[in-house]
Amino acid sequence: MISWTQIQDLHAVERLTEIVGRWFSIDLVYLDEFGRLKNDFDPQKFNFKSYLFKVHRNSPKGKELLLKDVEIALKQIEQTQERMAIFETSLPGVKGMICRLQAEGENLGYIMAYCYAKDDFTSEDGKKVVKELVSYGLISEEAELAVKKLKRIEEIQEEYLKDLVGLFADEVSTYNEEIIRREQIIKDLNSEVSNKYRYHKMIGKSKPMQEIYRLLEKIASSESTILVQGENGTGKELVAKAIHYNSVRKDKIFLAQNCSAFNDNLLDSELFGHVKGAFTGAVKDKKGLFEIADGGTLFLDEIGDTSLTMQVKLLRVLQEGTFLPVGATTPKKVNVRVIAATNKPLKEMIQNGEFREDLYYRINVINVNLPPLRERGEDIPLLLEYFLEKKCKEKNLAEKEISKKCLEKLLDYQWPGNIRELENEVERMIVLASQDQAITPDLLSQKILDSVGGGQVLKAGDQTVGFNINGTLRSALEEVEMMMISEGLKRCNFNKSKLAKELDISRANLISKVDKYDLDKRKKAS
Ligand SMILES: Nc1ncnc2c1ncn2[C@@H]1O[C@H](COP(=O)(O)OP(=O)(O)OP(=O)(O)O)[C@@H](O)[C@H]1O
Ligand SMILES: [Mg+2]
Repeated sequence: MISWTQIQDLHAVERLTEIVGRWFSIDLVYLDEFGRLKNDFDPQKFNFKSYLFKVHRNSPKGKELLLKDVEIALKQIEQTQERMAIFETSLPGVKGMICRLQAEGENLGYIMAYCYAKDDFTSEDGKKVVKELVSYGLISEEAELAVKKLKRIEEIQEEYLKDLVGLFADEVSTYNEEIIRREQIIKDLNSEVSNKYRYHKMIGKSKPMQEIYRLLEKIASSESTILVQGENGTGKELVAKAIHYNSVRKDKIFLAQNCSAFNDNLLDSELFGHVKGAFTGAVKDKKGLFEIADGGTLFLDEIGDTSLTMQVKLLRVLQEGTFLPVGATTPKKVNVRVIAATNKPLKEMIQNGEFREDLYYRINVINVNLPPLRERGEDIPLLLEYFLEKKCKEKNLAEKEISKKCLEKLLDYQWPGNIRELENEVERMIVLASQDQAITPDLLSQKILDSVGGGQVLKAGDQTVGFNINGTLRSALEEVEMMMISEGLKRCNFNKSKLAKELDISRANLISKVDKYDLDKRKKAS
């Protein structure tokens, strides 16, 4: 696709347009590959070189003339199959020139030199043109002036004009080929970057993440059991999916089960299934997840929360590939790859007798240890960008941008380990920004503003964005009160008498509020 605005800004194009205008009093009309007009001939803004063109552009019916002539020009060039064609416009004796624009063999559109007369243009021709123009709603004086100013050019000059229009077309082609080439380079670069900065749906360019990607790549083709460890919200499930979707099992099923969600009996029947009559309510046979996941991958989340009895059963299915559905007498055999995850310190649990050592070694064949967000701060801009794009798409909103100031604050904030917190912050700001394109610091949540500074005192008429506007009025007012005092303390260098005066409350009252919101602590901390 051609960018007409960029083309107009090209130095060579500017010069050529100027020369054609000055020497020949001719305008250049851009048409896309479908013959649609691409310049905006707003009579107020466009600097017309051809007076005839200007006046017919100005008349309400005159616009039709141009469209008619475009049609004639396109027909002409279609018929000749040449790069360039000269055509008779709908005004007698008035001509135009049209030239194809091409890049890499593709038709990009056309350039039209509009309009002129040959030097054999007679006064009779002139009269006909005036008549025609008047029928298009122009007053006769204007029509006569337009004809008078219409450029007559000789044969040889027409050849020059052809050269100039040809040069223009060459310039556009070169430029577009260059653009195509540059776009390809950018695309290549992008895929190189994205290969490095992401793995499956995981984002991050920090060293710890690069190491994780390398490890995941290495184990992609292995069939071993994997233990994924990491704090809450560090992406354990994401890793499990990345492993599955890069493995030979990728076309088979991926199932996830949170082992802490059920009590032992329910988990037992969920994982291994049961036979009819195994317990009250077991009205028919039910397949367990191990059976359903046969051939695929089963993600056992929160494995640290399983009971010791369950651990024995898990060990058996991992070692032998067999298990016994609840109430069954004959074991079943399956081929399931298990990926387990936990945020608990399993080694400590072994020491305390809460986790079986044999199971630990069985699941921990390969260990993926995910770093918390606070240990990979350099990934934050990438993650912000990623979540911003993702959430805007999800919510069907136009693209948004985080302002520089807002980004600075987001980067200053000491993020804990959980990526969800960052994700939620982005989501919240997008919702508050609503239709605005820019995400500004006033949309940041209070905890971030409080921590990095920049919480602003609310003035009458200010929007209450950034505050907890849900909940009760009282709690919202308290939030504002707390923020005003906290900001005021910093501003007055913790001089409470000064601040009490500013806020127009008694010193005793201020002190009791400082106690209530525990704001003196901040002094010690900062
Ligand atoms: N590296 C990452 N890149 C992009 N998004 C991530 C990344 N890590 C985590 N997330 C996102 O953070 C959220 C939490 O990830 P996930 O559920 O995989 O973590 P978890 O460790 O299983 O959490 P929990 O301990 O709470 O179960 C998800 O929305 C996930 O998409
Ligand atoms: Mg999880």
